Amino acid sequence: MKRLVAPSILSADFNHLGKDIEMINQSEADYIHFDVMDGVFVPNISFGIPVIEQVNRIAEKPLDVHLMIVNPDHFIEPFVKAGASIVTVHYEACKHLHRTVQLIKSFGARASVCLNPHTPVAVLEDIIQDLDMVLLMSVNPGFGGQKFIENTYKKVRQLRELIDSVNPDCLIEVDGGVNFETGARLFEAGANVLVAGSFVFGAENPAEIISGLKQL
Ligand code: DX5
Ligand code: ZN
Repeated sequence: MKRLVAPSILSADFNHLGKDIEMINQSEADYIHFDVMDGVFVPNISFGIPVIEQVNRIAEKPLDVHLMIVNPDHFIEPFVKAGASIVTVHYEACKHLHRTVQLIKSFGARASVCLNPHTPVAVLEDIIQDLDMVLLMSVNPGFGGQKFIENTYKKVRQLRELIDSVNPDCLIEVDGGVNFETGARLFEAGANVLVAGSFVFGAENPAEIISGLKQL
């Protein structure tokens, strides 16, 4: 089973973002994860299109863009044009999720849906066959450095069962509170992609942490 790592630049050093992106380029990371927050869907504002456009000019890994925003349909084309390879929208922010997923694909990006900690995996039953990835939040979205929510392991196992029965190529990504301990258990439970922000960028040697996550 694929075991991938997607460092979240939410915790990067924005005074030297180019240096952190170069570190990711040279590292064993598989994606660069961008936590886009609008201050409405989540109680925080992070960054948007200009940052992704600039990073895309030097990035050597696919851009994995996590939209924690309301009305994501309005922003899918601009984010794909800015360089997003994977676009994740929140189930909780979409009135017409099937249409949104088709919209992401129509622009040539991979389509991913995110579930907040309280949202059951079962809500994806009738859309899972259309997805390239599902992102499970293991913290309440909005901030890095939060405590991992233990119930996530159960959701990963449930989602692994659903995906294996309907769409085995669909990836499971988990985001929030990922470290060596939670990461190992997440891979064990059937996750494919680990998003890590503070655990990577809070470390002395971020590239070493990324390698360590890859080898779990
Ligand atoms: C939503 C964000 C964070 C971030 C990872 O809050 O999506 O989860 O990516 O944060 P860490 O790895 O610092 O918990
Ligand atoms: Zn994220």
